[in-house]
Amino acid sequence: MILVAGGTGFVGAGIVRELARRGKRVAVLTRDAVRALDRFPGIEVEYRQGDVRDEASLAAAVQGAETVIGSQQFPQSPVEDRKRGHTFEEVDARGTEKLVRAAQAAGVRRYVYLSGAGAAPDAAYHWFRAKWRAEAAVRESGMTYVIFRPSWVYGPEDNALNRFIAMSRFLPFVPLIGNAAGQRLQPVFIDDLARAVAEAVDNPAADNQTLEIGGPDVLTMKEVVRAALQAAGRRRLLLPVPKSVMKAAASLLQFMPGRPLTPDAVEFVTMDALADPSEVRRKLGVRLTALRDGLGTYVGRG
Ligand SMILES: NC(=O)c1ccc[n+]([C@@H]2O[C@H](COP(=O)([O-])OP(=O)(O)OC[C@H]3O[C@@H](n4cnc5c(N)ncnc54)[C@H](OP(=O)(O)O)[C@@H]3O)[C@@H](O)[C@H]2O)c1
Repeated sequence: MILVAGGTGFVGAGIVRELARRGKRVAVLTRDAVRALDRFPGIEVEYRQGDVRDEASLAAAVQGAETVIGSQQFPQSPVEDRKRGHTFEEVDARGTEKLVRAAQAAGVRRYVYLSGAGAAPDAAYHWFRAKWRAEAAVRESGMTYVIFRPSWVYGPEDNALNRFIAMSRFLPFVPLIGNAAGQRLQPVFIDDLARAVAEAVDNPAADNQTLEIGGPDVLTMKEVVRAALQAAGRRRLLLPVPKSVMKAAASLLQFMPGRPLTPDAVEFVTMDALADPSEVRRKLGVRLTALRDGLGTYVGRG
C-alpha cells in the first residue's frame, strides 16, 4: 500500500489518481478522514487520519505502507499563520521529520518527498530552508528515497493560475504583482508531475535521486497569464501592481481576520520558479506537456 500524505490536496490528489489508474493500492493521510470521504468518487481509496504536527497521530496511519509520499502543505500556503501552526517550519520541516520517524518505525521502505525548486540549506527564503530540512530528514532516514523539486504546478485544481482565470471572469483587467514581464516560470502540468511521482514509486532509476521537475518551456509570468486567458477565450488588460504596493497592503492585511495576505507571501508569488526537467525525462521517461496543451485539457471547457 502507498500512503499519500496531503493526498486530498492539489498535487497529492493528482498523484492518488495516477497511482489508482496504475492499479496501486492507495491510502491518504488526512487531518479529517470524514471530510475527505467524497474526495475521489469512483476510486477506491482508504483514508487514514493524522496530522504531521502531531507525531502520536502518525504511528497508526503509516501501518502497512510500503511507500510514503509526502505531499502535505499547510492551508492557504504560502500565507503562514503561526498561531495555528500553519508554517513551513511546522508542516514542511518538522512535519516531515515526524512523518519520516513514524515511517522508519513502521518499516516503510521508500519515501517520496515533494520538495520545491530552490531548496537549499543557505537559501535566502525560509521556505526553501524548511524544504531543505525536510529533504535532509528524508535522505538520512535509511529508507530508499526520491525527492522531487517541482517549479510551479498548474492544473484544474491549482490555487494559482486558476485565480487569474477566475478574476478575468468579473474584472476587465487582471492584476499582476511585481515585474511580471521579468518573472521567469517553468510551469509543470499536474498530470506530468503525477506521472513522474507514480513512476518513481517502483522504478529503480529513481532510487535515492533528487529530481527537479519543471515544464518544457521557460516563460514569463505575463506570458503564462496571457496563455491562460487565451485558453479561456478572454482578452484582458494585464495591470502591473508594484511589489512595494502589494507588500504595503499585505503588511496591513496580515492582521485582518482570515489573514488574506502577508508580505512573505508576496515575495513567494513573485519569485522566479525554474526547474530543469532533463533528469526526469532521461531517468523516468516522462514526457512534458507544453503549457498551451496542458491548459487546453481543462480551461474553457465549460
Ligand atoms: N502547488 C505547487 O505549485 C507546488 C510547487 C512546488 C512544490 N509543491 C509541493 O507539493 C506539495 C503539495 O502541495 P499542494 O499545492 O498540493 O498543497 P495543497 O493543495 O494545499 O494540499 C496539501 C494537503 O496537505 C494536507 N495537510 C495540511 N496540513 C496538514 C497537516 N498538518 N498534516 C497532514 N496533512 C496536512 C491537506 O489535507 P487535509 O486537509 O485533508 O488534511 C491538504 O489537502 C507541498 O509539499 C508543496 O510544497 C507544490
